[in-house]
Amino acid sequence: MKPVNIGICGLGTVGSGVFNVMQRNRAEINARAGHDIRVTHVGARRDNPACDLSQVIVERDVLNVAKAPDVDVVVELIGGCDIAKTLVLEAINHGKHVITANKALIALHGNEIFQAASEKNVGVYYEAAVAGGIPVIKAIREGLAANSIQWVAGIINGTGNYILSEMRDHGRSFEDALADAQALGYAEADPSFDVDGIDACHKLAILASLAFAIPLQFDKAFIEGIRHVETQDVENAEELGYRIKHLGIAKRVDSGVELRVHPTLVPDKRLLANVDGVMNAVLIQADAVGPTLYYGPGAGSEPTASSVIADIVDLVRVMDVEPHLRVPSLAFHPGLLKEDQIVEQSDIETANYLRLQVIDELGVMSAITQILSGKGINIQAMMQKEPKEGESTVSLIILTNKVKESSLQAAISEIEELRAVEGKVTQIRMESLN
Ligand code: HSE
Repeated sequence: MKPVNIGICGLGTVGSGVFNVMQRNRAEINARAGHDIRVTHVGARRDNPACDLSQVIVERDVLNVAKAPDVDVVVELIGGCDIAKTLVLEAINHGKHVITANKALIALHGNEIFQAASEKNVGVYYEAAVAGGIPVIKAIREGLAANSIQWVAGIINGTGNYILSEMRDHGRSFEDALADAQALGYAEADPSFDVDGIDACHKLAILASLAFAIPLQFDKAFIEGIRHVETQDVENAEELGYRIKHLGIAKRVDSGVELRVHPTLVPDKRLLANVDGVMNAVLIQADAVGPTLYYGPGAGSEPTASSVIADIVDLVRVMDVEPHLRVPSLAFHPGLLKEDQIVEQSDIETANYLRLQVIDELGVMSAITQILSGKGINIQAMMQKEPKEGESTVSLIILTNKVKESSLQAAISEIEELRAVEGKVTQIRMESLN
């Protein structure tokens, strides 16, 4: 079997997982790939005690791995967009194939990286960038190739899902649950990427390109995190037959493609509503197959290594094939990607959960419903909570029918001006996922 030399750059959680799984399962991996795949180089600023590096060349400067003449494939597991981008472009420039788990890098610089790779006839694979160990990129790119995809909805940030699950199951605070997710190694170096929806949006931008034949367009997405979701919202949702999930949604509509990440009320009977803890799941609605659901661990050392190594095997199988016969990086041949319009958030239509804190007096309900009906917003359900002890205000929960976001925002502004309404209105969008 022809040997293929791999250089792993970055020996943290994922890098050490790749290194060790490659050694442990080497015979099976080679039998699948039809080549002898060897990790010959490691680029890392420091050793990782979890890895025996005695048989490999260790470079402290990762760029030396990109330049090493005997390395065939560079595996980028550093993260971030600084050194990682330089490394990937340098590796491509030196004619190496690249595998990366870096969602930010692909979402923000993928268009440039794929172009550079195509000019050098090398492949760039990135299965581990979305939903960790779930082979969802391969599923969209290859398994669903017959279909016209209608929408994709995913729980694609394990940390956010863990926090929401803990709030619901144990009434824990947001901060407590986040600290746990960090200790478990799921959170990003900057956890605001998790709780403010940026990490999920990196992944959504990639899924949308694969599903809808559009270039990567992270900067046009609507992003809302989970910081404003309170335990009372999680409990109210439960009472109304819903669960709150932080979803990435990409949907083809007449005016273009919707690209949005936000907390969402999902009917509690949906499978997606029952994905708990750090697990990820992606639900895809496509015209021929109908709905398909992909579930599994979205992060972690060996689950992510599983996807990285699957990419290595895929790549090695086609390394000697004419470049135009390989599976295209974004599922569609690059010349056929369309600059479809990303729909402005103000034009998007969803049903909504609204929570208001109001003074319990005559005419308040009527003033609020008049504002809503004046904007053509139909109320689907309404619930008034008992005032908490010692409080003079009550919580009012309203579920609206589908409404254009701009109309709802106008109504919310008017409602917040009412004397009897205290503070801001909490809005959480709803999706039936039918
Ligand atoms: N911080 C990410 C998450 C890790 O929580 O899902 C995997 O991308």
